[in-house]
Amino acid sequence: MTERRLLKIPQHVAIIMDGNGRWARQNSLSRLQGHKRGSEVAREIVTASARIGVSYLTLYAFSSENWRRDPHEVSGLMSLMKHYLESEAQELHKEGVRLKVIGERELLPNTILDLVEKVEELTKANKKLTLQMAISYGSRAEILHVVKQIAQKVRDRRLDPDKISEQDFEQHLYTAGIPDPDLLIRTSGEQRISNYLLWQVAYTELVFVDKFWPDFTPEDFMEALLTFQSRERRFGTAA
Ligand code: FPP
Repeated sequence: MTERRLLKIPQHVAIIMDGNGRWARQNSLSRLQGHKRGSEVAREIVTASARIGVSYLTLYAFSSENWRRDPHEVSGLMSLMKHYLESEAQELHKEGVRLKVIGERELLPNTILDLVEKVEELTKANKKLTLQMAISYGSRAEILHVVKQIAQKVRDRRLDPDKISEQDFEQHLYTAGIPDPDLLIRTSGEQRISNYLLWQVAYTELVFVDKFWPDFTPEDFMEALLTFQSRERRFGTAA
């Protein structure tokens, strides 16, 4: 339907998949059942993105702050991710999806880390869509990581502090080599960035959707892309 009207496809879409817990409560289900439904929706949006011609999709699956949730919920989310990676790897590969995980990998359980590395290796040459999964990700931690790398280079006299450029900075981000998001979608009606891709969203269009993530459909995704299409982006230049 609306797909044909989508002339200006964003190259990179980032999503904050918010509202699994509230959706679960509203439907008298456990929070984990909310996350499970959320992971199914994520899967549908990956396929829709590849079909539409989005080249990069970044999903916020687990934040640095999420480690502080109830241990039962944390281990449930980890199992869900393990299950997702195990059951979807071949299918993602067939669809031409390259998986890349961004975040503090060293904090992930070894079973997940091994699996992530396996799927990244399997899919590394795929060109249709790059799926960046933000797991154990926090933007301030990412920025601090960059600052430490740069400080090290300055200390080793490999970089002149007066000459540090945006490019020098970007090459140490977890997202190095990936263009900045054109569009950021957050579901659940909350209108915050929540420590997500702070450097990268400097000029990104923001679309807030008043639905919980498990209720988000490919049609809603298309609507968000149409909203993006209707906006004029000037990157700070005059009209
Ligand atoms: C926010 O909802 C969502 C999360 C913290 C995790 C997102 C995870 C998934 C969608 C499932 C895992 C994804 C994959 C692809 C395996 P919330 O729990 O903060 O909801 P609430 O704000 O309503 O409590």
